[in-house]
Amino acid sequence: MDSQPTVLLNTGARMPLLGLGTFRLCGREDTFRIVDAALASGYRAFDTAAVYRNEEHLGVALRELLPKYGLTREDVFITSKLGPKDQGSRAREGALHSLSQLGLGYLDLYLIHWPGTQGRGVSDPSNPGNRALSWAALEGLHAQGSLRAIGVSNYTPAHLRELLDGCAVPPAVLQVEFHPQLAQGELRRLCGETGVCFQAYSSLGTGALLQDPLVLRVAQACQRTPAQVLLRWATQQGVPVLPKSCCPERVRDNARLLDFQLSLEHMEALTKMDCGQKYCWDPAGVV
Ligand SMILES: NC(=O)c1ccc[n+]([C@@H]2O[C@H](COP(=O)([O-])OP(=O)(O)OC[C@H]3O[C@@H](n4cnc5c(N)ncnc54)[C@H](OP(=O)(O)O)[C@@H]3O)[C@@H](O)[C@H]2O)c1
Repeated sequence: MDSQPTVLLNTGARMPLLGLGTFRLCGREDTFRIVDAALASGYRAFDTAAVYRNEEHLGVALRELLPKYGLTREDVFITSKLGPKDQGSRAREGALHSLSQLGLGYLDLYLIHWPGTQGRGVSDPSNPGNRALSWAALEGLHAQGSLRAIGVSNYTPAHLRELLDGCAVPPAVLQVEFHPQLAQGELRRLCGETGVCFQAYSSLGTGALLQDPLVLRVAQACQRTPAQVLLRWATQQGVPVLPKSCCPERVRDNARLLDFQLSLEHMEALTKMDCGQKYCWDPAGVV
């Protein structure tokens, strides 16, 4: 998979440390333009989801653009996610729909997007059973080769322990919000102990952290952009990231992470920002 740094998954496959986030990327032309910029800048991983409603456009863009860069399907790592509306007995159908929208024979990674079920309250007692049904469906498609790795997203330590206790195939990846203000200490430790790859989303705090005074100071000291500092903070700890931008220059800028290092002092200062701040959805109440 080219020369991009990767992390080793418990399936034996390698996942790029840098992937393109695609939440709120929509429309055929915009998706094509951003995927083009990403492939040109060295991105080899793409993160979508049924709820992003861009799987079809991402699939078309990749099919049309991979040959331009001398790449094939095997050179890229594509992730999608099960929509909360398909959690439970519709999970197999949901995964097959994602594959068909993307026009792919297999996904490199498929995640349960959310521990709850759409239309059910967070404390609905059917939530754990629906999660288990979804996981069994994902295990089936994994065994058939359609989902090369399976995992979860937005799971709390309790959800992850429940899954690890009851699964036949352990999750390869946990994708959660992670940035200097949200260190996710317990989840990271649990992933480390159980061989689950911890992957970050919203590394820029959905954009909010780009104006943080400390981030700005570190960026100025390193002669880097605030986005590069935030992404480097995660990847320097071995945590894969998925920055999203609708602007080709920013997509390029966000990929320039390998030619600099944050000093220990800067890493520690950023790590001290942890205050449990979430910018995205919070799964803490889902039973
Ligand atoms: N599993 C989940 O539940 C979940 C939840 C959230 C996100 N994700 C995944 O993670 C990806 C990233 O998370 P995210 O989209 O929430 O947020 P993010 O990557 O933390 O931040 C994206 C925001 O930052 C701006 N931005 C990006 N690069 C920039 C730069 N170099 N300079 C200035 N502004 C910049 C973007 O604006 P412009 O677009 O205008 O440049 C956008 O508003 C998503 O796209 C998705 O693939 C997963």
